[in-house]
Amino acid sequence: MKKLDEVKVLRDPVHGYIHIHDQIVWDCVNSPEFQRLRRIHQLGATYQVYHTAEHSRFSHSLGVYEIVRRMVTENSDIAQALDDYEKITVMLAALLHDIGHGPFSHSFEHVSKYSHEDYTYQIISQDSQIHDILRKENERLPYDVASVINHTHPNTLLTQMVSSQLDADRMDYLLRDAYCTGTSYGEFDLERVLRTIRVREQKLVVKESGMHTIEDYIMARYHMYWQVYFHPVSRSYEALLHSFFKRLLDVYHEDPMELKKATMFQALCEKEYLTNRELYELDECACQYGFSLMRYSSDAILRDLADRLLNRRLFDYDDLYTIDQENEYYHWIQSQGYDPEYYMYVDRTEQRPYQPYQDQENNAIWVLMKNGTIQELSKASTIVNAILKGENKNEKKVFFPKELNN
Ligand code: NI
Repeated sequence: MKKLDEVKVLRDPVHGYIHIHDQIVWDCVNSPEFQRLRRIHQLGATYQVYHTAEHSRFSHSLGVYEIVRRMVTENSDIAQALDDYEKITVMLAALLHDIGHGPFSHSFEHVSKYSHEDYTYQIISQDSQIHDILRKENERLPYDVASVINHTHPNTLLTQMVSSQLDADRMDYLLRDAYCTGTSYGEFDLERVLRTIRVREQKLVVKESGMHTIEDYIMARYHMYWQVYFHPVSRSYEALLHSFFKRLLDVYHEDPMELKKATMFQALCEKEYLTNRELYELDECACQYGFSLMRYSSDAILRDLADRLLNRRLFDYDDLYTIDQENEYYHWIQSQGYDPEYYMYVDRTEQRPYQPYQDQENNAIWVLMKNGTIQELSKASTIVNAILKGENKNEKKVFFPKELNN
């Protein structure tokens, strides 16, 4: 693997510096597909609530790479467990794990049939500069990198580092999102986690002495979900995005000519899934310009929704407890002259701070006890055990135009 003549060091507010030693990592960073991530917000609509949450998937992806790079170089257990090819594979998987995200991630996934995981696989495995860069190094590399991301790589150590319940992805986004929103909920001691990770029976485990840091990390995650990720105001903006795209598709199906001004949305309306090129072109800048153009649409609903998106005229919201309540809202919104198809949005959220079982996607967290045995986290930690005994927190909300409440 070719090394750079000089290590590239990129300043980063979370990690201090990001270090790039390998030519192939640098080439991927400079590819158009990776540079596009600068034009996708890391937290979708959250900057509508926390006005400094302007960070992009670009900086998060570099941060995940840096954590994995430190794992494979500074943690001697991990460094010994992997060969050089596996190390570069897992660093690239960390760097590229979010490469398939569309604009406003989750809202976009409602419209497109494909998930960001599908697009990530598509970009790495075919017809992109990233694919060419990886393939030039080794025919197998694109598929090995993609298989770490989609959990099918035979060496589960690699998949655990990039995607599990204690992975570099979560570690970076909690710290970065806390920093960029200005909240302190997401903070935990990353240095200590990295120092106390060990490898046993082909699993990442955490030494018992590092367990309190892990408890802190689990709580950080729990609070970030309810205070930041599920914030009702950003969900309100997402409701608008959802309605806008839904109306856009309906208008397109009635009269394709209506969208001829906003060609950025053409492929999205026409096709089940996008090619790499089409996804590349559909970033958040393109969407914002599209909203701007749609303010002059001949369709009144589309015009209104575009204006709401641009000028942050958000929907109001209320908690829903019963189906009857939901029906009442439907009729009320309709009786006020609004089409509930586009002016009512119901959204349910649920989050479990930690899942003690293990499946393909959710590796449990394992603790290496002082006596040398390995225990699953909720057995080793009374705090985590107590959290799991509580009910899962979930909520359902209805979103509707604010002016209806006046
Ligand atoms: Ni990520």
